[in-house]
Amino acid sequence: MSKPKIAIVIGSVRPNRFADHPAQWIKALGDARSDLDFEIVDLKDYPMPLFDEEVSPAWGPSKNEVAQRWQAKLDEFDGFVFTAAEYNHAPTGVLKNAFDYAVKEWANKPAAFVGYGGVGGARAVEHLRLIAVEAGMAPIKTAVHIQWAVMVEVNGGKKLADIDFLQDGGKAMLDQLSWWTHALKIARDKDEAQAKAA
Ligand SMILES: Cc1cc2nc3c(=O)[nH]c(=O)nc-3n(C[C@H](O)[C@H](O)[C@H](O)COP(=O)(O)O)c2cc1C
Repeated sequence: MSKPKIAIVIGSVRPNRFADHPAQWIKALGDARSDLDFEIVDLKDYPMPLFDEEVSPAWGPSKNEVAQRWQAKLDEFDGFVFTAAEYNHAPTGVLKNAFDYAVKEWANKPAAFVGYGGVGGARAVEHLRLIAVEAGMAPIKTAVHIQWAVMVEVNGGKKLADIDFLQDGGKAMLDQLSWWTHALKIARDKDEAQAKAA
């Protein structure tokens, strides 16, 4: 059986964003594992307008070409890690918009979060957990939270990989993500087999 695929979605698009640090760090931590495959998916490569479709993707196909490409990309994955910047105590608008542009591609798949900010992005992550539930996902309990003091050190040249508590926290999160990814993949495959047989 091929390994389940996890997308690391980079959830902010500013030119000098911090997001690349957590994305590259969690990718390296993931690549050291043998149970999952990881790929970075950058929202910069999916410049969708603020949601302006006539209907929700729950009710009909999206007309926007980038949105169609985004949905097809999400379909490739069995689980997700989101980098979660906190803008005004909430997730970034661009990440919320990206959530709005898909429905079935998120459903019955796990979501994990690497938050960062004044309180480690905790408020953004809590919002994202609610959004993920509405998208039909299974947000997992353990997240990584990178606090401001750590961000300052990283902007000064320190590597996230050199911080022991983050290495431990990242591994714990990926262990949990792996459990949910495998469990939900079995359940989705069963659903698919039943639908084909019907
Ligand atoms: C519009 C905006 C709002 C912000 N609001 C918050 C906030 O509410 N809480 C917080 O901890 N940091 C806040 N910040 C600081 C961000 O945590 C910090 O800029 C971080 O690097 C943003 O992620 P990014 O660089 O990947 O875009 C805000 C930054 C921006 C640009």
